[in-house]
Amino acid sequence: MSADAIVQLKDDHKEIRLAFKKFEAAGEGATKSKDRLVEKIIELLTVHTYIENEVMYPEVRRLLPELTDEILESYEEHHVADVLVLELAAMSPEAERFDAKTAVLIETVTHHIEEEETGWFPRVRAGLGRKQLTEIGQRLSAAREKAPHSPAQPSALKKTADAILR
Ligand SMILES: [Fe+2]
Ligand SMILES: [Fe+2]
Repeated sequence: MSADAIVQLKDDHKEIRLAFKKFEAAGEGATKSKDRLVEKIIELLTVHTYIENEVMYPEVRRLLPELTDEILESYEEHHVADVLVLELAAMSPEAERFDAKTAVLIETVTHHIEEEETGWFPRVRAGLGRKQLTEIGQRLSAAREKAPHSPAQPSALKKTADAILR
């Protein structure tokens, strides 16, 4: 049984925010654990972005065209996060800008999650029935099964290219 789409995505957000908190709590010199945490953050974001881009956003846009502007802005926010993720994935945790880049990624994604949770997810819940949200939830679960876990995988790079070329 798949959870309702919004419940599922909010669970992801919770896990992402927890990883952010752990990074922020790590000490100045904790290079190894910060490296591992950034790896975890990148993996969580890669999966979550994929399932939103592939399923949630196109479905919401199709079913609730009045949310098109919110969806388009969300794609752009994902794209900004993707760029930071790609750069971080290739960066040594000892690099001077590693912490700064991670801090900007955290700020960007936190803002984006807040817009989803308080801005337009409530409008999706109001606009779609429980049955539709469960169906989208099932498709999110299916997409999760085949989602890339690293930004270097072709299916993850594809959405980055789409954002530029589309
Ligand atoms: Fe998103
Ligand atoms: Fe999200």
